[in-house]
Amino acid sequence: MIERIGPASHLDATIEVPGDKSISHRALLLGAIARGRSYIGNCSPADDVVSTMRCLRDCGAYVRGFSRGRVAVDGSGAGTSLRAPEAPLDCGNSGTTMRLLAGVLAGHDLNVTLDGDASLRRRPMRRVAEPLHAMGAAVTTADGGTAPLQVQGRRPLHAVEWRPAVASAQVKSAILLAGLSADGDTTVDEPLPTRDHTERLLRMCGVGVRTEGLRVTVTPGDPQPFGLRVPGDVSSAAFFLSLASSRASWRVRCDGIGLNPGRTGFLDALLAMGADITVEEGEPAGGVEPVGAVTVRGRDLHETVIAGELTVRCIDELPVLAVIATQADGETEIRDAGELRAKESDRLAAVVAGLRALGAQCEETNDGLVVAGPSSLHGAQLDAHGDHRLAMAWAVAALLVRNGADSTITGAESADVSYPGFYPALRSIAR
Ligand code: S3P
Repeated sequence: MIERIGPASHLDATIEVPGDKSISHRALLLGAIARGRSYIGNCSPADDVVSTMRCLRDCGAYVRGFSRGRVAVDGSGAGTSLRAPEAPLDCGNSGTTMRLLAGVLAGHDLNVTLDGDASLRRRPMRRVAEPLHAMGAAVTTADGGTAPLQVQGRRPLHAVEWRPAVASAQVKSAILLAGLSADGDTTVDEPLPTRDHTERLLRMCGVGVRTEGLRVTVTPGDPQPFGLRVPGDVSSAAFFLSLASSRASWRVRCDGIGLNPGRTGFLDALLAMGADITVEEGEPAGGVEPVGAVTVRGRDLHETVIAGELTVRCIDELPVLAVIATQADGETEIRDAGELRAKESDRLAAVVAGLRALGAQCEETNDGLVVAGPSSLHGAQLDAHGDHRLAMAWAVAALLVRNGADSTITGAESADVSYPGFYPALRSIAR
């Protein structure tokens, strides 16, 4: 699908975004292994989350969706809830589904193959295969360390202490979820802090989880069933909030979004660029996940450096931040972002190509980008490369074009991977 988007002249809106994708995956997985029935509200409608639901059902789980994102899920314990599916599991485009589910299934006494689309088949899987193997599951990948992933689970698994080579919440979560059916406490020692939704939701389910600096330790046991209303997806809100930051007189407010510090790095980056941001905190979701309203008002922005821990805290928002950097005065540097090459596309190469097509000045480095601004963008033919975050970043760029021309986005439908309804929502607020 090709989406055609022209420049916006006015933006002043309050908007609600669908439920958080990362939290929805975890809530479904935990519900499917908790002892009893759990209820999820405002579950994400994203294609990726639908992949998690489908895989769980294929493993015999009761997962029933109702209107407005309400879902009921049944489980019967950490290593005992799921059974071997009849065919390979189709994780679609979703790395989170494949990696976290591999961790859950490794603790079950069954044999299963996890597969996905062409993009997912290019993504690195040894990072989960190796620790699960060390825990006693037999996990094999295709040559090159990619999917399909074959998992022969084992119960109980061995408790391990693991230090992942890359900072990845998916890897950490796979190990912690496997650790629920281990024979002792399992520790992950992270190179840099990553989003801690899994730890928070495990605590909500009564599981023992200790965090000491970069070390997270889980005590084996069955999660208790829970009720959770998933907060709005801060990574979806990021497209609207970032857009508003870049022009004086523009304003966007997003209500009820998740404010987990592992996810709000893009707000810190925008603040460092001079954006005007107000945060009003509300009641935490499930008593564990921070939630609130964020308002961003546009201002003249200036350069910043995004590196180290901050890069990890805004890893999914780097494409849209690069777009915003084209409007900021000076050279904005994004460093320590080599992981962007292992996402749904090579996001570093794709962002540089797209920004240049829009008339921006941008250089690719080994593990990042340098964007020089401010640039007067012109309409362009842009390619999402089948990557949802790129599709939505290009839609934001198209609204910032100065020469009055429309832009086209090829492969725009990939936005559904995390945000079905994104284009109508964007059109309803930006004129
Ligand atoms: C996610 C973790 C991140 C992120 C992805 C979702 C998660 O991936 O980029 O969109 O839900 O745990 P990595 O763990 O590969 O960094």
